Order: sequence, then C-alpha cells, then structure tokens
Amino acid sequence: MFTASIFSDLDITRRNVSKNLDPDRRLEFAQYMTPNSIASFMSSLFTYGKKIKLIDPGAGIGSLTSAFLESSLKHNSNVDVEAWEIDPSLIPYLESTINHWKKKSNGTISYKIHSEDFIDYASFLLGMGRDKYFTHAILNPPYKKINSQSKHRHLLSSIGIETVNLYSAFVALCISLLADKGELVAIIPRSFCNGTYYLPFRKLILESTSIKQIHLFKSRNRAFSDDDVLQENIIIHLVKGADFNNVIISTSLDAEFHDYAEHKCDYSSVVNQSSVNKFIHIPSNESEKYPPDICTNTLSEIGLEVSTGQVVDFRAKEYLIKNITNKSIPLIYPFNYVDGKLIWPKEHKKPNALKMSSEIKNLLMPKGNYVLVKRFSSKEEKRRLVAFYLSPDNLDSDLIGFENHLNVFHLSKKGIDEYLARGLTVFLNSTIIDQHFRVFSGHTQVNATDLRTIRYPSREKLIKLGRKSLNSPNDQLSIDNLIRNI
Ligand SMILES: C[S@@+](CC[C@H](N)C(=O)[O-])C[C@H]1O[C@@H](n2cnc3c(N)ncnc32)[C@H](O)[C@@H]1O
Repeated sequence: MFTASIFSDLDITRRNVSKNLDPDRRLEFAQYMTPNSIASFMSSLFTYGKKIKLIDPGAGIGSLTSAFLESSLKHNSNVDVEAWEIDPSLIPYLESTINHWKKKSNGTISYKIHSEDFIDYASFLLGMGRDKYFTHAILNPPYKKINSQSKHRHLLSSIGIETVNLYSAFVALCISLLADKGELVAIIPRSFCNGTYYLPFRKLILESTSIKQIHLFKSRNRAFSDDDVLQENIIIHLVKGADFNNVIISTSLDAEFHDYAEHKCDYSSVVNQSSVNKFIHIPSNESEKYPPDICTNTLSEIGLEVSTGQVVDFRAKEYLIKNITNKSIPLIYPFNYVDGKLIWPKEHKKPNALKMSSEIKNLLMPKGNYVLVKRFSSKEEKRRLVAFYLSPDNLDSDLIGFENHLNVFHLSKKGIDEYLARGLTVFLNSTIIDQHFRVFSGHTQVNATDLRTIRYPSREKLIKLGRKSLNSPNDQLSIDNLIRNI
C-alpha cells in the first residue's frame, strides 16, 4: 500500500494555482492538476531501478513528478527528469517543485524543463529516431479533441500515430519514447476502452505494452473533485514489451483511497486479443468474469460449425416464389420467427419460399435440428444475440433454405443433435452470454466469425441444458435460471 506524499504544501499550491488560472487558458490547455493522494498512488505502482529517466509531459506544477521523486528517494534511485509544460505561467511552480526534491537528494536528481508543446517536441524526437529513451513515464495529460485538420493531427500522423484526443496522443507518444520494459502510469479518461475512434490507440497499447493494473474510482467525479471534473477517469499502469500476466483491477471510492481494494484477473478477461475491436473490459468485481466461467470450449470442441445463411434473396430473385405448393422449399428469414416460434409460410413483402433448381440446390440444407441466430438486431430488442431453434418437425420439406440475415449452426451442412441444438439456443439467449458478446464484439451485427470466436459450455453441459429446457418456460428469467444451474 502507498503512503500519501509528505509534500503537503504542494496540494495547497495546487488549489491556489488552480483557482487563479485564466479560465480561457484553463479550457484551452485542459489544466486539471492531480491531487497529492492520487499522485502518490500513481507513483507507488512503478518499480524503481538504480537509474531512471522519467518523462512527465504536460507537467503542470509538477504534482506527479513530485510524488515520483519522493518515492525514488526511498529507493535510492538516480533520476533524470524531463518535463514538458506549455503554459509559461506554470513553469516557475514546476521548477520550484522539482528543486524541492533535488535539494533533498544529494545529487541523485537532475532535470530539464521544456517550456513548449510536447506534441511538437516528441514528434520531432521520434521523427529523428530518438525512441526507447525513457524508463518511466508518469502523466495526467490534457484531455481535448484533436481536430482532423490541426497541426497536432498532421504531426502525429507523420509518425504513424492516429488518434483523436490529446490524452491518447500523449500516452501514445510516451509509449513510443519508452525503452523496453519501460513503465507508464497515467490517469486518463476511460473512453479509450471502447469505440472505434480509439481502436488504433488500443492496438498500440495492446501490441507494445502489457497492462499491469487498472484503478477505477467508484464515484465518477471524485478523482478531481476540487475541479468539478465529471469525466470518468482511470489510472492505468503499462509495461512496454512485458509478458501478458494477470491484471490487477483496483478500486477506491475517491482520491482518498480509504477503501482501496484489488483483485487479480486473467489477461484474457480484460482483453480479447483476437477480437476485431480490441475493447478493454474492466471487470469491476471478481464475479464479473470475462468470459463467463461456463464458456470453456471452442465451437469445434463441441463439434459444431456456424455459417451465414447461404441464400441471398436479391441474388436468388428468379427462384423466389409467392404461391406456395407442396414442392416449394421453405426459405427461412428472421421474420419467420414470432416470439421464438416459427411461422412458415408467413405473409410478408418478401416471398419466403424457393423453387428448386440446380443453382439453388447447393445452397440448401437437409431437414434437421438447427440453431439460427439473427445477424441484425433492432434497437428495441433487449438482446444483441437472438437465437431460434429449428426442429425437423417444424417444416414439411426435406430441404430448407436459410436466408443471409441468419447465421446457422450445423455440422457439415447438416442438422445437429436435438438436445445440443436446444441447449445451444438457451445458452445463446441467456443474459450472461449477451453481456459477454457486447463487450467482446462491440458492433451491432452478429457475424459468423464472432460466433466462431466466442467460447461455449461443453457439449455435455449444452445437451443437459437442452433436456432441462423441455420443461422450462421460455422467458428471460427462466432461461437465465437454467444457465445458472448447469
Ligand atoms: C490535466 S493537466 C495535468 C497537469 C499535471 N500533469 C498534473 O497532474 O497536475 C495537463 C497539463 O498539460 C499542459 N498542456 C496542455 N497541452 C500541452 C501541450 N501540447 N504540451 C505540453 N503541455 C501541455 C497544460 O497546461 C496542463 O498543465
């Protein structure tokens, strides 16, 4: 556990400086200074070697560097600090903060303050090939959108960093400037964990660093309560080029850390490395595991395959028929299911039957047990995953067409075991897998690739679930109860 800084005067300076900041400049440079307690916590996360090169970009009055230097003295480290601050009015405070520790250090602390734009300077350094330079980075970067036509955006693009906010730009630059096994601790908004805008940034984090710890403040606005910052912030500890081990998730109500608690989780419960969107999931308690405990097997381990429905209606126009005869082949769309029950044929603007032809024959599957999953869900639908069970008794036809708006679980293009199909349907309609799927996939479509990537309960468990489902109602509560008890 960390101990709060002894340099309490700095908190008083911080409050006074913050109060007197020019409001326009404060907004322009996003000047929200870190309280001592948070700075001390952040510096407690680092490992301290003998020789340290520390970077603090957007250093403000030096709150973070101060806490770092205080810790480094306890570890007898030699520290060379480079700090950047764009606002000249803050430089004297920054200088005096670092000097405070330099004087106490018997010559183990040296520093350089850059009174200039960090993005300009770091892009220049990286453009010149001066990467892998720092061993430690501590930052509370400015939070501000980067306009697509701005100088910052062009500079960052020129060194291969594509990002939309100053905070992610600062972190990305620091990662690039860090030496192998270099450590970074930052307090940043949580927004980068999801969303497509931050995908390149997440990729950079996940490809070049390992996440060691994420700290959550349980109360959204409590980290910077003096400054009325409503943004949800997290503290993240990254180590460049390190192995992916467990991730510590810690929490506290606020910046006082009185109720500090932590738990370890598997790397895979925070990041699904093979997912397209690379979302970072932060399980806030141990029970919110990701993926859920019951998801133990790959799709091939349970002996199944999944494909997108083979019949694309607009490409098969000439084979679609409205006037159904006993020779017509059912073409199943999501609209053929109402409250989970198949209605075929169904009066609809789209004809839901096909006439046989040699071209169509290759796209059909034989009568059997199948599980169908909607590829697109409407906004009103509570679940992203919506699965239907199709029984061989549902249709009086030896062959069936599945339209492209459905995914189909099958085995070698044939039906599967009845109870396995029933159990899989229950599993896919459960809340636990729906929540997992949302975090994992991030987009609203459900593609066959996504269904191939997620994990499933074992075949035995699914069959058991299928048997039990015969005597159970089909509402959400009953489905979730069935899952809970397998
Ligand atoms: C959120 S404040 C944090 C200050 C300090 N790191 C702390 O934790 O108290 C961000 C700081 O970055 C500075 N800043 C904003 N844009 C900058 C830039 N492009 N280059 C260098 N500093 C910048 C601001 O003036 C401000 O002091």
